[in-house]
Amino acid sequence: NLTTQLANVTFDGPLLNASGIHCQTSAELADLANTSNLAGIVTKSATLFPRKGNENPRYHDLPYGSINSMGLPNLGYPFYLDYVQQEKAKPTILSVAGLSADDVIEVLSDIQDSKYQGITELNLSCPNVPGKPQTAYDFVATRKVLERVFEFFTKPIGVKLPPYFDLVHFDQIAAVLNDFPITHVNTVNSVGNGLVVDVAKEQVVTKAKGGFGGLGGAMILPTALANVRALRQRLNDNIAIIGTGGVTTGADVFAHILCGADMVSVGTQVIKEGLGVYDRLTQELEALMTEKGYERLADFRGQLREL
Ligand code: DHB
Repeated sequence: NLTTQLANVTFDGPLLNASGIHCQTSAELADLANTSNLAGIVTKSATLFPRKGNENPRYHDLPYGSINSMGLPNLGYPFYLDYVQQEKAKPTILSVAGLSADDVIEVLSDIQDSKYQGITELNLSCPNVPGKPQTAYDFVATRKVLERVFEFFTKPIGVKLPPYFDLVHFDQIAAVLNDFPITHVNTVNSVGNGLVVDVAKEQVVTKAKGGFGGLGGAMILPTALANVRALRQRLNDNIAIIGTGGVTTGADVFAHILCGADMVSVGTQVIKEGLGVYDRLTQELEALMTEKGYERLADFRGQLREL
């Protein structure tokens, strides 16, 4: 029994797609609805208006992960708001991003006024839009936008965070988030503004921003686990955590949960392996739990031992 709870929703298992992964079009979202062992569907971060995104190449596979600079290509929030209200196969998480705080408020106002009762996730951490810094690295701006959101928004809503790399920053973001009735945090977004160098060609591998892009996959697992752990140690108990980053095996899913994750999402590895990855990860997770004598995720969630 791998069921897990997030906000007012019970999920059949812990696994989600990472936002941006196979969740932009109707066809992709329909594939997710048919994917076994995917417990819920996260939509591509939606903006006020549709966006084509950055120029190609904008995703590059690496032996140890991936780099991307997609630039928020999406069909615009009305499409995704409509989609989540029609999806009946699985629970949804509606991801929303803004190019400004005003955009965010406009989109969330429409979600508030809609019939959607599921979970929304405010993405405060897209690294790939030229000229737009990641909001969640600015603690004052983050508090301001959340103050505006909770003046009117009464539905379940969490936030997607970028990775933090200093313990003081964990303290600072947790102090902000603990002041608001958010349902969850999703940690981490891609490790922003990495640079991959093709030595043979003596050039970068993605087009936008001179080749700077978000890193994902195996290389970011320790960063993701540190963020899950550090936030679990600091956030109010009623704020759930979605662990995202670096999952390639069932043991990695286990590690995220051991650090405190309630759910775990998978990005880069879906692109490398296809949607069958959720079956494999579930089999590996279940085998590991059996070996260790655990029956439920709650038996080991957050139980990481220190030396
Ligand atoms: C994109 C990347 C992100 O990491 C994110 O949170 C939102 C959008 C992108 O490049 O499309």
